[in-house]
Amino acid sequence: MTSRQTRILLAARPDGAPRLEDFEVTSAPIPEPGAGEVLVRTLYLSLDPYLRGRMGSSASHSSSTPPVALGAVMEGGAVAEVVRSEDPHFGPGDVVSAATGWQEYGVVAATAVRRVDPDEAPVSTALGIRGMPGLTAYGAIREIGRPQRGETVVVAAATGAVGSLAGQMARLAGARVVGIAGGERKAAWLREAGFDVALDHRDPAFETRLAEATPDGIDVYVENVGGRVWQAVWPRLNRHARVPVCGVAAAYSTTSTRVDTDVAGLMSGLVTRSITLRGFVFSDFEHLRPTFEREVADWLRSGAVSHHEDIVDGLANAPAAFLGMLAGEHLGKRLVRVSAGSGS
Ligand SMILES: NC(=O)c1ccc[n+]([C@@H]2O[C@H](COP(=O)([O-])OP(=O)(O)OC[C@H]3O[C@@H](n4cnc5c(N)ncnc54)[C@H](OP(=O)(O)O)[C@@H]3O)[C@@H](O)[C@H]2O)c1
Repeated sequence: MTSRQTRILLAARPDGAPRLEDFEVTSAPIPEPGAGEVLVRTLYLSLDPYLRGRMGSSASHSSSTPPVALGAVMEGGAVAEVVRSEDPHFGPGDVVSAATGWQEYGVVAATAVRRVDPDEAPVSTALGIRGMPGLTAYGAIREIGRPQRGETVVVAAATGAVGSLAGQMARLAGARVVGIAGGERKAAWLREAGFDVALDHRDPAFETRLAEATPDGIDVYVENVGGRVWQAVWPRLNRHARVPVCGVAAAYSTTSTRVDTDVAGLMSGLVTRSITLRGFVFSDFEHLRPTFEREVADWLRSGAVSHHEDIVDGLANAPAAFLGMLAGEHLGKRLVRVSAGSGS
């Protein structure tokens, strides 16, 4: 094993959309694990929209946790392989999910890692459909959306890690599902995955297309983006509609502090139409994890749901891959393959 590794630091706080200059690729010594810790080698790094919030000042759009310090390693979840363990529960070769950040090797507390079984499914899925985004979608649908047979469900960012599972779960529940995504390649994937209608939010006639696609109104809206999509959905929400608010990706890189919607109008609409609008973080649904893991494993085995991974090779390409993810260039779950691991 070499003694040095590549790491990517946060070099500057972006104003608006992040740029490549906001990151710095550096070399540093590989750290040593202490008692109760493990040294892991990153296999796959997860690129998620919430990381944009971590790059900003404390007034983050997407998170209540502190931002990444300037000059510190960028945060991020990963699937990694244990290289050295100073904890009796883990040994070399074990695969775990861990918040290693954007680096080749990391030292993490053994209590902060979760074991990943490489025999069950490709380990990368622990960052997508079987991981944090999957649990987000699962809780959004099971606990908040609760779609019923024959209802109309609309999903924003519908090909993403969260939206793709949420939409397919709604379809399995017997709902009619309208997926919204950017561009024809994504629309084609939605149709293949069984969405009843695929709409492009970049279409100048998007609002009209949404109205045509939801003649009976909208019963459940899975909010992932906000902005123009929310503005089009809001007037079409039915009485007793449910809106799980996963995130508002369209707002993460804006510099404006303006609130899109008139708050009094929003509240009065919630009251008169008895609408449930509920924000959450995925960890609110930790109690669902056992059923989530079992059901998703069954769906993947039977082919009841499909998922797509968009993998970029090489840690040095993480900044560009992250910028592309925020712009929606990816399809499915965006990951960076950092190393192959000893088992490959
Ligand atoms: N609450 C939680 O605990 C939790 C956990 C995970 C994720 N989330 C949130 O869930 C959402 C989806 O996450 P994900 O990981 O699955 O990401 P994702 O959908 O793979 O990526 C974000 C997508 O947002 C869309 N987007 C960005 N700007 C937009 C705009 N102005 N108008 C319309 N669409 C826009 C793009 O899709 P198109 O190409 O289709 O436009 C982009 O691909 C995000 O808001 C994320 O922050 C929340």
